[in-house]
Amino acid sequence: MSTQFEIQGLKSSIEGKEILKGIDLKIGGGEVHAIMGPNGTGKSTLASALMGHPKYEVTDGSVTLNGEDVLEMGVDERARAGLFLAMQYPSEITGVTNADFLRSAINARREEGNEISLIKFVRQMEGKMKELEMNPEFMHRYLNEGFSGGEKKRNEILQMMMLDPKLVILDEIDSGLDIDALRIVAEGVNAMRAEDRGFLIITHYQRLLNYITPDFVHVMMQGRIVKSGGPELAQRLEAEGYDWVKEELGIVDETVGQA
Ligand SMILES: Nc1ncnc2c1ncn2[C@@H]1O[C@H](COP(=O)(O)OP(=O)(O)OP(=O)(O)O)[C@@H](O)[C@H]1O
Ligand SMILES: [Mg+2]
Repeated sequence: MSTQFEIQGLKSSIEGKEILKGIDLKIGGGEVHAIMGPNGTGKSTLASALMGHPKYEVTDGSVTLNGEDVLEMGVDERARAGLFLAMQYPSEITGVTNADFLRSAINARREEGNEISLIKFVRQMEGKMKELEMNPEFMHRYLNEGFSGGEKKRNEILQMMMLDPKLVILDEIDSGLDIDALRIVAEGVNAMRAEDRGFLIITHYQRLLNYITPDFVHVMMQGRIVKSGGPELAQRLEAEGYDWVKEELGIVDETVGQA
């Protein structure tokens, strides 16, 4: 079944301050949507609100995944339903190994009694780590603890590959990656492109989009999507920055604070 993810009129506040001011976005199966935009315009807030982060109160709008009401779901349910977020700043968890974490995450998505066997899990994890050119020792390291910036990002992609999500959100997955790692991570994402999976990729740089060709590019300012286009939009932003968008739309301050 082809995936359909739909955001309508989404508004979200943090501690009473409205950050998202009405987001509309439809992501079909097989599609890659890129979100670009200056700092502090609400991109990560959108990712957090979609995942159900408790700090981000949704005050209006709807979000559905294949017709199911996402906003009604708790964080765990959203993950089970197939939402996945690779965070801009992945958190470190001492005492939980990477393997333990991933295995619990996989099993949490399965019915009781249908857990993945240890052998199958280890084989899968080893295979994916090889694809991502990760040192096998990362299997038994504590989750993200002491990982370099690039190692954390690669590990987020490992999780994505193992969890087989329906809607993948990548928040600045390219930040901190060296040139080879960028290519490896992009290849990992491209290998996951499928009819029953949609992608929302938040990035500042066109370079990532040279490797992962987006179907749509959106610009976020003042907590809204203010402009959408194809890959050529990202190229123009890379070449010219955001001033022309602001001028075109009569925006003076693009951050969410002033709107
Ligand atoms: N938990 C929070 N508490 C207070 N303010 C917040 C919180 N989360 C986000 N904000 C504010 O909301 C605004 C948007 O932040 P957000 O992280 O969504 O921006 P962004 O577009 O992802 O920026 P960047 O490109 O720098 O990552 C910022 O002004 C930020 O300070
Ligand atoms: Mg951000």
